[in-house]
Amino acid sequence: MRLRFVEDALLELLRNARDAGALNIYVASTRKARRHRTLTVIDDGCGIPAIHKHLIFEAGVTSRHLDPIPYANGNDDVLFHGAGLSLYHIKTVALSAEVFSTACPTAIRVIFDTHILPEKSLQSGSRPSKTNLRATLAKFIGQTVPSPPCLYLGSPAQVLATLLEHHIINRNEGAKRIAEWARNLGLEVSSRTVRRIIAGAVHVADEVMPNNDVTGLRRRVTSRNGAGGPILSLEEEDLGEIFAILRRAARSSYLDLAGLDVEKLPGEVLLRARIYEPEEAYE
Ligand SMILES: Nc1ncnc2c1ncn2[C@@H]1O[C@H](COP(=O)(O)OP(=O)(O)OP(=O)(O)O)[C@@H](O)[C@H]1O
Ligand SMILES: [Mg+2]
Repeated sequence: MRLRFVEDALLELLRNARDAGALNIYVASTRKARRHRTLTVIDDGCGIPAIHKHLIFEAGVTSRHLDPIPYANGNDDVLFHGAGLSLYHIKTVALSAEVFSTACPTAIRVIFDTHILPEKSLQSGSRPSKTNLRATLAKFIGQTVPSPPCLYLGSPAQVLATLLEHHIINRNEGAKRIAEWARNLGLEVSSRTVRRIIAGAVHVADEVMPNNDVTGLRRRVTSRNGAGGPILSLEEEDLGEIFAILRRAARSSYLDLAGLDVEKLPGEVLLRARIYEPEEAYE
């Protein structure tokens, strides 16, 4: 196996989590200086045996012989995962690769220099960010049959908010303890952000769906029987204010607004704002 892209490494981390029986996988991602991608993959699977913690990045270390994971190679042969090489390859190419937590939940963080291991360029023009990670997660869900785990993708702050929401971390433990949890899981968030998360001011990470059908929404909205009526005229200035309000709301959740489409129909105005997650540091 050769890792050619960051996405290949992410897929291996997802496979490991799935093979550990994870029902939920949380991926926190940041990109700094347009170059360094950090991926923290957290899962609620069976965990890494503590004695393996420092070994799993060594070539040939695998637990698959204890509990082999079958897969088909397309030639009707059933083979087994378990060369024990994926994490070794990841560590070789990454700036850093570490196990932060061995269990409850399991957390592995890797940092890539995308000048050394590049990212695939985005196929879709619908999202202004350059990342293809969401598409990788969506593909993984589509390929994992019959029961794929639930996958969540967001900034470290959003993933921490999701872990609280899912009661993996107890909200009542207090800001100091929650900040400690974040550190122990490899999620870089400031104490100010922890307080914002506890106050409910940070959105949870998005659950990734196999297919992100935004056109379906559009069809549903526009196929409604329009009531008919007058057409509202909106000046540039009005649109500017609407844009500013939406952008303020987005930014308070570490998101941003790429554009605003306005459709004026008889008796109604349809606003469609494109929201995205900025790729640069979230803090
Ligand atoms: N998220 C995880 N939860 C539990 N154990 C894990 C996790 N990630 C890795 N491991 C352990 O680390 C070992 C090494 O992982 P690695 O991906 O390098 O090899 P592998 O999955 O055994 O084989 P392959 O080369 O086919 O990926 C695994 O066999 C497993 O025991
Ligand atoms: Mg593996």
